[in-house]
Amino acid sequence: MGLGRMGLPMSVLLAEAGVRVIGFDIDERAVRAVNSRRPHIAEKGLQERLRKLSPRLLRATTDPDEAIKESCVVTVVVPTLVRENGSPDYSYVVSAASTIGRYLRREALVVLQSTVGIGVTRKIFARTIEKESGLTAGKDFLLAYSPIRAAAGSILRDLQRYSKVVGGINERSTDAAEGFLRTFVKGEIVRVSSIEAAEAAKLFELIYRDVNIALAQQLATVCERYGLSYFEVCSAANSQPYCHLHLPSVGVGGHCVPIVPYFLIRNPPRGATISLIEEARRFNKDVPKRIARRITRMIRTLKPRKPRIAFLGLTFKPNAKDVSFSRAIEIAKYLSGRGYAIRTYDPLLKPKEIEALGLRAAPNFEACLENANLVVIAVSHKAFRDRLSLDLITSYTDKRILGIFDGGGVLSLEAVRQLADRWPKRGRFLYTGVGVPTIRGGSL
Ligand SMILES: NC(=O)c1ccc[n+]([C@@H]2O[C@H](COP(=O)([O-])OP(=O)(O)OC[C@H]3O[C@@H](n4cnc5c(N)ncnc54)[C@H](O)[C@@H]3O)[C@@H](O)[C@H]2O)c1
Repeated sequence: MGLGRMGLPMSVLLAEAGVRVIGFDIDERAVRAVNSRRPHIAEKGLQERLRKLSPRLLRATTDPDEAIKESCVVTVVVPTLVRENGSPDYSYVVSAASTIGRYLRREALVVLQSTVGIGVTRKIFARTIEKESGLTAGKDFLLAYSPIRAAAGSILRDLQRYSKVVGGINERSTDAAEGFLRTFVKGEIVRVSSIEAAEAAKLFELIYRDVNIALAQQLATVCERYGLSYFEVCSAANSQPYCHLHLPSVGVGGHCVPIVPYFLIRNPPRGATISLIEEARRFNKDVPKRIARRITRMIRTLKPRKPRIAFLGLTFKPNAKDVSFSRAIEIAKYLSGRGYAIRTYDPLLKPKEIEALGLRAAPNFEACLENANLVVIAVSHKAFRDRLSLDLITSYTDKRILGIFDGGGVLSLEAVRQLADRWPKRGRFLYTGVGVPTIRGGSL
């Protein structure tokens, strides 16, 4: 159930393993896309692999009767979200559970894979199924929870190769779920003693990342103040085997890290201390706003007659074509909302995809940089590291006034210092960014 970003690749892997899969989705567009073998999701390798599957192995439907009644395993990969005020929204999980309850056959195995807070599988998901069906979890049907671990850009590979945690309502359920997962998972199956332990494992993974990203963001500001490169210091610190400092950025995006910590923050068990987790989330949430303000301060310092911004990178993380909750887009929109002339470019997005986001797109680096007096590098794509030299930037940008905001330590500091030293005295040059020293040239 759920043929989205995670559910569809998983269906493909199951079908490739010889399992007969009926994909069920409430969205007709998703069902049509699967049946016509033209996926509605851009993911590496998905289209080619989907095309090779016969309809006998994978077909999709919006009819729950057809999908659930005959199935011996029902697995759920529907969205779990947070509302504007940060409270968890499990409405898709509840509606999937009530559909299951209406059609589930006895002895079937139900595996929830959507990310949820601790206790949600048993108290919300299973209870809804039980109420609708009159069956009892663990007795009349088997029930397990197994979180998904996969990142945009390598979903098929990750789903297959990463180890997978699973916990059932009883031993028989965990055994059955392990057997089901074994059909497509090549990594280790990590059995835990309960559904709640499996739910907690997923939550903790993401909270670990959120807290460590906040730490990296704050240490990056320390480096900025000391005139150091965080990227150099981080790599030196991480040469110690127990140090795993993360990389800072213009903000945490994507479907998981900015959302999932709220599943605990908004429903903590009584007596637990979670202040560090709350503070990390609050801090990370505000990063894009702080970056946008820093960029407007740069404009005030550089005083161009008309600010013209070349904005490079829009995806939520480097090297993956995914714009979900992208903070780069948030910042670009903030700047364009302030009336600045801004042109954006991302090597992974077509201009028409960028325009659909409500931003002005340039077809390539050169067109984006043309006459700009402020260059914002918002995502450290490999293509930027490989191709975006200062020579390229300065061949197209304003010759007198230039600001560069480096959001991912993309440019060579040595080259930036050399450029600042030879910047014309009557002009203004300013380089700054996340975790890098500020370097000035010209009359600044
Ligand atoms: N996207 C990621 O990077 C990622 C990574 C790990 C875990 N997850 C988790 O996986 C889950 C699914 O995420 P996603 O990114 O695949 O979501 P998605 O929005 O891409 O896809 C979800 C699909 O579920 C369908 N759906 C909604 N309600 C339904 C219902 N009642 N019955 C059948 N189908 C229904 C939607 O129409 C949609 O096609 C979430 O809990 C998410 O937290 C996502």
